[in-house]
Amino acid sequence: MDFFETLQKRYSSRQYTAQPVESEKIEKLLEAAQRAPAGMHHYQDYGLTVISDRKTLDTLCSEYQKVTDSVRDPLYKAPLLIVISAGPGARRDTFQYDAGCMMENMHLTAVSLGLGSVFIRGMFRSLESDSQAQKMLQVPADWKALCGLAAGYDPAMSNHPAVFHSLPVHRIE
Ligand SMILES: Cc1cc2nc3c(=O)[nH]c(=O)nc-3n(C[C@H](O)[C@H](O)[C@H](O)COP(=O)(O)O)c2cc1C
Repeated sequence: MDFFETLQKRYSSRQYTAQPVESEKIEKLLEAAQRAPAGMHHYQDYGLTVISDRKTLDTLCSEYQKVTDSVRDPLYKAPLLIVISAGPGARRDTFQYDAGCMMENMHLTAVSLGLGSVFIRGMFRSLESDSQAQKMLQVPADWKALCGLAAGYDPAMSNHPAVFHSLPVHRIE
């Protein structure tokens, strides 16, 4: 798939089949994250966690529902979640950009692999101080799970209209 076609096909998938993501595709997503730029070359401050265990994903979902008192599934039943964590040395002025670069690399790679995916931040924010969830994510005590890419097969992918979010563009010529 041509790069611009990949860009044009990207959107946030919020429905998934139960079909697991093949391990070769998971490896490609991980490679994509590890090909991202990072401010001041601070790669040592980030880690990736792959969660494909259905029980763990469901427990994260129910923990979220308990903490937020809602019935919403924050992961949309996706069979895969790749979590980005940051350590205590992560630079305050760049960590969100660094994670964003890794996330977008994975999000676009997912499109090129025929996978739907969505950037997940809300669930991590809600579970930040939930010890049960932190234990499940296996993040060391002084590290923080920042966000994750939920991914899988989206039954609506082939019919989804292309998205384009129009922004004001100022030209200084
Ligand atoms: C930093 C960031 C956090 C996001 N967090 C969530 C989230 O927690 N749950 C969710 O469903 N979508 C989340 N999104 C996806 C956005 O809602 C989505 O990209 C936006 O509405 C535009 O839609 P599109 O991606 O389909 O073009 C997030 C996106 C970004 C960039």
